[in-house]
Amino acid sequence: MTTPIIQFIDVYKSYQSGSQPVTALEAVNLSLDAGDFVTIMGPSGGGKTTLLNLLAGLDLPDKGQIILNGRKVSDFSDHELTLLRRKEIGFVFQFFNLMPTLTVMENVELPLLLAHSSRTDGERIKTLLDYVGLWHRASSFPAELSGGEMQRVAIARALVHQPVILLADEPTGNLDSENGLKIIDLMRKAATDFKTTVVMVTHNPQVAAIGNRHFEIRDGKLTDQTA
Ligand SMILES: Nc1ncnc2c1ncn2[C@@H]1O[C@H](COP(=O)(O)OP(=O)(O)OP(=O)(O)O)[C@@H](O)[C@H]1O
Ligand SMILES: [Mg+2]
Repeated sequence: MTTPIIQFIDVYKSYQSGSQPVTALEAVNLSLDAGDFVTIMGPSGGGKTTLLNLLAGLDLPDKGQIILNGRKVSDFSDHELTLLRRKEIGFVFQFFNLMPTLTVMENVELPLLLAHSSRTDGERIKTLLDYVGLWHRASSFPAELSGGEMQRVAIARALVHQPVILLADEPTGNLDSENGLKIIDLMRKAATDFKTTVVMVTHNPQVAAIGNRHFEIRDGKLTDQTA
């Protein structure tokens, strides 16, 4: 028996919208292992981003427990959550979210600077940029890259601090199908090569089929669709 890397135990989350509470997650239970490649589908408003935000330590549940990498993060302070995000979580977004005034290399370096404040590891940055096939563009700025290239830089940035968990919210939503598939291949390779647990939200059923675990989330309820 392996210890799960991610565990949700009866997790609830609601938001206040005007005077009305909106339930975003309801009685969510989840158990994922190291190296799992997890895909999550579901209608708009179903709770996908809410789930990723809880996984990222960007938000806390109203009720229930979240255990990441052996620790109960649902009890963490803001400071502990910040450290968790900086050291153990990588995030890839639909709109890339690269810093426009920084070069490719500096964008990848940024999480290291945030985590260690002064010491960075040039070799590590080169290895990651090689990994995503973009070392030759290290001095370029994001605006000089294609969408697919920007997303590859975002993946290098997300992996540079060797996260235990890589989260991706619609990472192929702004790419054509060819570049989208390249991004998916790269994330799948990262899950295998680094034993990183990847959790990816997608609207594309072909992309969702690539995961070894599949979930659907609808009206805040998560169901395991793994065959
Ligand atoms: N900050 C917020 N304040 C109020 N309600 C919110 C907030 N964030 C999310 N919600 C509500 O919670 C529910 C789940 O939202 P969530 O963003 O998780 O959906 P989603 O599955 O990611 O949708 P999409 O596919 O459109 O991105 C929705 O009803 C949404 O309106
Ligand atoms: Mg969303």
